[in-house]
Amino acid sequence: MNREDFPILKGDNIYFDNGATTFKPQVLLDGLSEYYNNYCANIHRGDYGISLKASEEYEKARMKVANFINAKDMNEVVFTSGATDSLNKIIFGYFKNILKENDEVVLTRSEHASNLLPWYELEDLLGIKVKYIDLDEKFEVTFDNLKKVVTEKTKVISIAHITNVVGDVRDIKSITKFAHERGILVLVDGAQSVPHMKTDVVDLDVDFLVFSAHKMCGPTGVGVLYGKMEYLKNTKPIIFGGGMNSTFTNDGSRMYKNLPERLEAGTPNIADAIAFGKVIDYLENIGMEKIHKHEMKLKKYLVSKLKQNENIIIYNDSSNSGIVTINYKDIFAQDLSIYLDKYGICTRAGNHCAKILKDEIGMKNTCRISMYFYNTKEEIDKLVEVLQNPNIKNEIIM
Ligand code: ALA
Repeated sequence: MNREDFPILKGDNIYFDNGATTFKPQVLLDGLSEYYNNYCANIHRGDYGISLKASEEYEKARMKVANFINAKDMNEVVFTSGATDSLNKIIFGYFKNILKENDEVVLTRSEHASNLLPWYELEDLLGIKVKYIDLDEKFEVTFDNLKKVVTEKTKVISIAHITNVVGDVRDIKSITKFAHERGILVLVDGAQSVPHMKTDVVDLDVDFLVFSAHKMCGPTGVGVLYGKMEYLKNTKPIIFGGGMNSTFTNDGSRMYKNLPERLEAGTPNIADAIAFGKVIDYLENIGMEKIHKHEMKLKKYLVSKLKQNENIIIYNDSSNSGIVTINYKDIFAQDLSIYLDKYGICTRAGNHCAKILKDEIGMKNTCRISMYFYNTKEEIDKLVEVLQNPNIKNEIIM
């Protein structure tokens, strides 16, 4: 779908590493050059035309993001540098100030490092306890296992909507209902879900949501922190400086701005945020439902083909996203990825920043094929053919 919109797709690469970052459409590049060529000025500071124009476009982009996730108020959307930055800003700016010793935070072992390490830091700082929901035989979260781990001390459930290795889709709506009935807040890592399916923060009733622009055809260096206003307004900045203060004096007294500027210290990534707004329009024109449907069709096709190859171990054949994680019997995952690259096929090998998932799947390294809407059946056929090469082991040794 829409391959003609991507200049890079004119090249020979078959790109299956969309979980790491996606290719960029022309609309993004046009958005960037429009800003740099026509109104390259700082925002919220200048009283002259091009600065006012830049501020207006930046806020328009915020509005587009708010509408895209159905936030009630555009000021619930904070621009950050990426999902990792957003998670740190929430965990250290909000949860650090409300959690106490022995409070419990519920995570899973398939979370990305960015949704684990900040919590471990709080464990050391505050004496909170990190607990994990056991995963089932498909490495997925079940409601029964969630119930088993939640106690009266649980204050937060912090989980990905779709995980980056297993690609399982969590039932966030039921989880928030269950959590809120017990006074538990829910933080959702949407890095692998928002790019691939319609996300409605009101319908899901999430308290916080984070995601990255670069995994959804947007630029690197832009992320989103969404928070319900009641929690976001009590989120303290963890970065201080220009742009986020309204006044300060030499005795150190100071006042900070309202949301969202209070959480956006320094000159933000103006060009990229504006261009991200154009990408949001682009994705909406294609339609998130259409994107999800296409990826699911590709996933089913790929899994059915890979199952015909007895050397392939598939870890997540039934998960409901465009991620297929495999190993080839007796070939180290990284060697497989390097072999595929010889045929112009880009995949990711390793632990994919989900370093404790190995405790569940019993395998440290895997090769991940992660798809997006511009991938095709023909690309899958090529991958399958290259994996069927009877000389694969010899080629890898060479
Ligand atoms: N989190 C990204 C991935 O899963 C980088 O590859």
